[in-house]
Amino acid sequence: MTVIASAPGKIILFGEHAVVYGHSALAVPVTQVQATCRIEDVATPTTVIHAPDIDRHYALQHAPPDDPLATIIRHTLDALQIPAKRCFTLTVTSTIPIACGLGSGAAISTAVVRALAAYFQQPLADQAVSDLVFEVEKIYHGTPSGIDNTVIAFAQPVSFARGKQVSRFTVKTPLTFVIADTGIKSPTHKVVGDLRHRRDGDRKRYDGYFESIGELVRLARSAIEGGNVDVVAQCMLENHAILDEIGVSSPELNALVAAAMAAGATGAKLSGAGWGGNMIALAAPNRVDAVATALKKAGAVKVIVTTVG
Ligand code: PMV
Repeated sequence: MTVIASAPGKIILFGEHAVVYGHSALAVPVTQVQATCRIEDVATPTTVIHAPDIDRHYALQHAPPDDPLATIIRHTLDALQIPAKRCFTLTVTSTIPIACGLGSGAAISTAVVRALAAYFQQPLADQAVSDLVFEVEKIYHGTPSGIDNTVIAFAQPVSFARGKQVSRFTVKTPLTFVIADTGIKSPTHKVVGDLRHRRDGDRKRYDGYFESIGELVRLARSAIEGGNVDVVAQCMLENHAILDEIGVSSPELNALVAAAMAAGATGAKLSGAGWGGNMIALAAPNRVDAVATALKKAGAVKVIVTTVG
């Protein structure tokens, strides 16, 4: 038997960083990029992992405890109560750029969980998939809020807050985002850790910023659900300004935001942890090409256009 499962990338529209401190954030899947996992029967008594993108081919039993693929496989097999002697070949590929805020790690884990659940004919609910992926996110990201595993496992626009039930939001007027990659790899745990350190030095100030972001998230959600695109755009600019103020933007991200606005985007902000990775620009359909071209000219190494709703 062969099974194949995929999971999308994601962008955070509003609320990154504040979500680590209990506020809500809005995120949407990006289906233009995908992680895929294929599982096939194997004749030998060994489970073999293939990751051709990074040229790695190895046996599950010999994988070190901190190997990300082996970890999600082991967690999932435990959850499904599959005996160790059940062997298979597992191949993972992904078109999601790594360490730039598109949820590559969570998408790979999600594809693996879904493929294993299908292979062993034990379908898992979205929340169960998300919970398994979160266990692995914790190992690699320190203190993740859980937004990446949630939006990718649910594969729908979600409002996420720690410890609260996931809530899906609707998009009244389709929103087209141009996603542009600075090309600078930015490990989430470093940016989050650095911000935590600064917050520890001045809680009142930083919690005030997070509160303001939380307020923008509420405003943006009702604007998205009500089809008020101009308000969504304005909220993006305000959210970006606060992220810049708290030190998680960068000259490169700010330059891309400025280039997008100069080319006719209505709103723009960094997306994800910051310091590098991606920014997103909201553009009317007739400005999308101009914005994408301007972003490439301003140094973006990759541009993806996605429409939500
Ligand atoms: O860079 P990403 O896509 O992993 O997003 C990080 C989002 C943060 O809010 C900065 C961290 C988190 O765990 O939510």
